[in-house]
Amino acid sequence: MSETTSVIDVCIAGTGSYVPERILTNAELAARVDTSDEWIVTRTGIRERRIAADGEFTSHMASKAAKRALEQAGLAPEDIELIIVATITPDTPTPATACYVQQQLGAVRAVAFDISAACSGFLYAMKISKRLISDGAFTNALIIGAEKLSTVTNWEDRSTCVLFGDGAGAAVLRRSEPGEGSIVATEMGTDGSLTGLLSIPGGGSACPITGSNINEHLHTLNMQGKEVFKVAVNRMREAAEKVIARAGWKPEDIACIIPHQANLRIIDAIADRLAVPNDRVFVNLDKYGNTSAAAVAIALDEANRTGAFKRGDHIVLVVFGAGLTWAAAAVRW
Ligand code: COA
Repeated sequence: MSETTSVIDVCIAGTGSYVPERILTNAELAARVDTSDEWIVTRTGIRERRIAADGEFTSHMASKAAKRALEQAGLAPEDIELIIVATITPDTPTPATACYVQQQLGAVRAVAFDISAACSGFLYAMKISKRLISDGAFTNALIIGAEKLSTVTNWEDRSTCVLFGDGAGAAVLRRSEPGEGSIVATEMGTDGSLTGLLSIPGGGSACPITGSNINEHLHTLNMQGKEVFKVAVNRMREAAEKVIARAGWKPEDIACIIPHQANLRIIDAIADRLAVPNDRVFVNLDKYGNTSAAAVAIALDEANRTGAFKRGDHIVLVVFGAGLTWAAAAVRW
């Protein structure tokens, strides 16, 4: 599913992020399961991740990231008309985490709902809200990727527990004025035949969690890493190529690629296939691991705040996740 032009241009007016204080290092994990810092760094690029405190929920992290994005955009919570939270770790199955965020921010005018597209959720939210703004339904939107993956991680499974972390990232989208930036092209896709490669099998209507099956870890992330890896590289490359082509850009025009932060080897493979030099690819997974829907949002904020690109630059965001799902966006900053 794709789009190139719209009546009203939409820009990213501000970004924000938040990660919990607690750092969990590879060395600490090596003391719990049969792994090593060397294996984790070589196979994934991850050195540490953040873990939310017991009383710190997905909505709390989302609201902190959102406040920073609002501040940068120069908007007050009451100005916001739409809030979309992308998450697979909502505070509660219902109501949506976006409703808690609305309340915490005091964004009293905003319509608020969640979407579930795993690691692709932030860019799904970007495309949905861009369309709703360009169609005239709203003048602005707050989109947030937020996860407390530590609550759905099997801490006894070395093949997954080394990968994930907690955090949140946010962006404020609004109608752009002449001369401002624009979300130029977006792409998203899904392959539901591959649901089994990456899932949390329990906790839904198919397999409610009971006292007897909780020990089977059905409520935690389950992944066939090697298979996911291959599809991720191909689909992310294709999605990025599509938005770059639709935007009419060449690899040398791109100031910064911001990919999903799951595995450094996946990121390197994509940069290589897109012919974009590594120094123009933003990486922060060494600090945070894979924070699912939050990952690309946190990376966008850090890239923005550390000057990885400037006004007018061309940037490409590209993601991949359970579903399997993928998405990309070409943005003129
Ligand atoms: N520490 C030490 N050894 C480990 C380990 C760990 N944490 N995890 C797995 N291993 C072992 C395996 O048991 C296996 O041992 P064996 O050869 O004796 O059977 C060996 O390392 C290789 O395992 P494999 O799964 O083939 O490793 P890999 O190179 O594919 O790396 C991932 C595993 C998960 C890092 C990698 O497949 C990956 O990143 N996949 C994509 C994941 C992803 O992006 N997910 C999120 C999508 S949003």
